[in-house]
Amino acid sequence: MGNPQNTGNEMGDSQDTDNDMGNPQNTGNEMGDSQDTDNDMKNSQDTDDDMVNSQDTNDDIEDPEETIIDYEDIEIKLVLEAVRLRYGYDFTNYAYASMKRRLKKTLEESSMKRFSDMIPMLIQDKNFFRLFLKNISVNVTEMFRDPHFFLSIRQQVVPYLKTYPFIKIWSAGVSTGEEVYSLAILLREEGIYDNCIIYATDFNDNVLETARNGIYPEKDMQLNTSNYQKAGGKESFASYYHADYNSVIFDNSLKKNIVFANHNLVSDGVFGEMNMILCRNVIIYFNRTLQNNVLKLFII
Ligand SMILES: C[S@@+](CC[C@H](N)C(=O)[O-])C[C@H]1O[C@@H](n2cnc3c(N)ncnc32)[C@H](O)[C@@H]1O
Repeated sequence: MGNPQNTGNEMGDSQDTDNDMGNPQNTGNEMGDSQDTDNDMKNSQDTDDDMVNSQDTNDDIEDPEETIIDYEDIEIKLVLEAVRLRYGYDFTNYAYASMKRRLKKTLEESSMKRFSDMIPMLIQDKNFFRLFLKNISVNVTEMFRDPHFFLSIRQQVVPYLKTYPFIKIWSAGVSTGEEVYSLAILLREEGIYDNCIIYATDFNDNVLETARNGIYPEKDMQLNTSNYQKAGGKESFASYYHADYNSVIFDNSLKKNIVFANHNLVSDGVFGEMNMILCRNVIIYFNRTLQNNVLKLFII
């Protein structure tokens, strides 16, 4: 088991250590399900003389009119494979329809024409990979998100946690950190923060940096305050942050027992027994196989 402080902090580390993680036989299970049109196939047939000639002369090759090939899906599969081989990030078992939607958006926002145009860029340019990662992962979050969830933690889980002298908590897929600061505030109000260590992990270094800084737009505080109150907050929410210009910075003391670290739920192992694991709005982006793998990781 790895120490979360040491797990894959650099994308390069991930590449070095995770090349073998995916089983190529399992890749792209859902690719065949896509019902997207095959316009690209027709275009490509029009322009690729060699292919047409070889189809004319080779009886063994199936008639393309009888075969539905989605070229986009093939290209997406190749893009994801390039990312897996180069950086160790395995997206092949992410829910395909939503992955494809986000890849399409990334393509539309770039000057590239085809998914496969991304491959050389992804292989050679780490910064392009960072941008790619930012575009294809969903990082939406807020403080005390779904306040009733935090109210339940406060009322039903905290009494149980209080029975332990030392409490280990893992917030997996923490995004920009609002979840872990919410948790820290709650635990402090319940008088057990000082007995806790909270591992706050995500596979995206960009969002982790925001999480570490604990600086958020002031305009979000109205919603966050309302959530905090609905979640049973006991103080003035504003007492936990300092406003400066249009931003707020959360009290440094809230970070005291939080360890921020890069951790990939697909490829990295567990790093110890936990008293509580939060993994919210993360595995909804995975297909069933991957969801089961992650759940196994948590109950080991
Ligand atoms: C929608 S956010 C959820 C944030 C927070 N848990 C919440 O509920 O508000 C999903 C987060 O999961 C992270 N994520 C996606 N796949 C991951 C993986 N394989 N390993 C670790 N984190 C992952 C993304 O980077 C993103 O920050």
